[in-house]
Amino acid sequence: MKDKGWFSDNINKNRRIYAIVFTALTAMLLGLLVYYHNMGNRTFVVKGTQEGTESSDIHIQYERSKEWSEHGTPGFDKGMEYDFSLSDSGSGDIYEWQAEIIFTSDYVIDSSWNGTFEKADHKLIVRPDEQTEKVAAGETKTFGLVMISLDEQSVGEYRLYYKEDFTVTDMPVFWVLIAAILITLAVFITDEWNHRRYSRLRERQEEIQAILLESFTTFANIIDAKDPYTQGHSLRVAEYARLIAGKMGYSEAEQERVYWIGMLHDIGKIGITDAILQKPGQLDNTEYSTIQTHVDIGGLILKDFKALTDIADGAQYHHERWDGKGYSKHLEGKDIPEIARIICIADSFDAMTSPRVYRKALPVDFAKEELTKCAGTQFDPDIVPVMLELIDEGVVPVEIEV
Ligand SMILES: [Fe+2]
Repeated sequence: MKDKGWFSDNINKNRRIYAIVFTALTAMLLGLLVYYHNMGNRTFVVKGTQEGTESSDIHIQYERSKEWSEHGTPGFDKGMEYDFSLSDSGSGDIYEWQAEIIFTSDYVIDSSWNGTFEKADHKLIVRPDEQTEKVAAGETKTFGLVMISLDEQSVGEYRLYYKEDFTVTDMPVFWVLIAAILITLAVFITDEWNHRRYSRLRERQEEIQAILLESFTTFANIIDAKDPYTQGHSLRVAEYARLIAGKMGYSEAEQERVYWIGMLHDIGKIGITDAILQKPGQLDNTEYSTIQTHVDIGGLILKDFKALTDIADGAQYHHERWDGKGYSKHLEGKDIPEIARIICIADSFDAMTSPRVYRKALPVDFAKEELTKCAGTQFDPDIVPVMLELIDEGVVPVEIEV
């Protein structure tokens, strides 16, 4: 059973991917927080004139709203009122700001409002008071002064120094990162949960497999114990049948099914008397006919074993021949179930290459010749080459410990 994760079947690989993604996203989030924290402490400078600024959302506008003649201070005879407005069209609030406004002519400050005003030569330095200390995003704050000017007056360039209060939660990227982190965690938890569930299922499946293997092996040993000369026969036939099925393109699960079926192909021998099965000499016709009934007995024993498809067919038809001269139903060609055609070849090969009561084991080359010779008469001519290939590859025969 595959433990299918989101990324791969390997939970440890998935865990590594989650760790990397989670660490990367968290690092990006921390980076973002640090960046915004630093931005909050940074002092920005913007230069501008009445026409505006080059590239900032923050700017100061002004107008000379009143003008009159003065005679109080010698030389300074022009009274003027300047109204300024500081606008923040950006996304962050402005605080700790200071404006430096350059006037073209000398002047004295008569009065001012909404800030503290300090004069340095022609330069006017404005700092906010309580009212103007913070300019929220989208807001405009006003301040102004009355001055007595030496000469015809106008405002040149200004500089504005300020800090901007960025709220990280206003940034879409912040929420995108939070969402990505939460999604990663959710996927990770789901994967872990699935992994645990699959692990429990796999353990249970392995237990069942072990019970099955031990039960079938026990059955196979019971069958083979009936005839001391066929020790390990059922296990070898099962293995050969599985190997043939594998070469024929059966899936792993199907190969396993073929293996189980191969193990019990001779189960009908349980119903044959030991006197015949273990007879050292040649069998007479009656005894031979009795032995042949093991296929029908096997078919009968396994007929209700529905959980393993075709298991009864394996026992019932493994002595049928391709030419129809086999037993007991005399099926022919592809009318014989494929599982039985496979087991027939596996069974015959093992019968030839194992010692018998009446003879020694025959050489593998002899068995190969027999298989080749009988392809199309006794054996399925399409399956024989598969078995020959396995023999040539050295995969067959196998040694099985009993
Ligand atoms: Fe048999």
